[in-house]
Amino acid sequence: MKITKTLMMPVGIAFLLASCGGGATSPAPAEATTPAAPAAPAETAAPATVEYPADFIKASDITLGDQIDQGMITEAKKIFDAKCHVCHGLTEEKVVGPGWKGVMKERTPEWIMNMMLHTQWMVENDPAAQQLVEETGTVMPDQELTKDQARAMLELIRSL
Ligand code: HEC
Repeated sequence: MKITKTLMMPVGIAFLLASCGGGATSPAPAEATTPAAPAAPAETAAPATVEYPADFIKASDITLGDQIDQGMITEAKKIFDAKCHVCHGLTEEKVVGPGWKGVMKERTPEWIMNMMLHTQWMVENDPAAQQLVEETGTVMPDQELTKDQARAMLELIRSL
């Protein structure tokens, strides 16, 4: 399938570059360049804790209604047609990324929201997201959704 190849190449390269660039999380260089420095400032000893994005979604940020919200579904289908359908399907079948049917059985709503809103952070830090990258051989580009748009997508995913 032609479209898959042309999409995967630049995305795969972008991922390699991103992972080579490293991040704020690697403590190695700082330690290596400060051997027994006298009166070392306290901050050099800071532990390498992973920082979460400021607006990282928590379980308590999401309320799922008893019924599927049809307004959100209408909104989500427009976004799906415009931005997601190239790589995702509404069945269980993989396209470039995983099919969305059944995703709610495997993931929490907040994980799904963070995957949509903080894709790069998830791919760099979340083991389940990294597993998906390995399985698909592709990194999902950031989709620049608003929180409301991502919430609508979650409604569509949970309706499948
Ligand atoms: C260029 C292809 C591409 C596009 C466009 C894309 N995705 Fe993805 N998506 C992926 C890939 C590949 C994965 C697997 C994880 C990864 O590689 O980052 C993924 C994973 C996901 C997941 C997690 C699925 C699971 O099985 O847990 C969700 C949710 C998701 N995408 C939502 C979206 C939404 C919403 C859009 C549109 C706004 C979108 N994606 C657009 C490629 C894409």
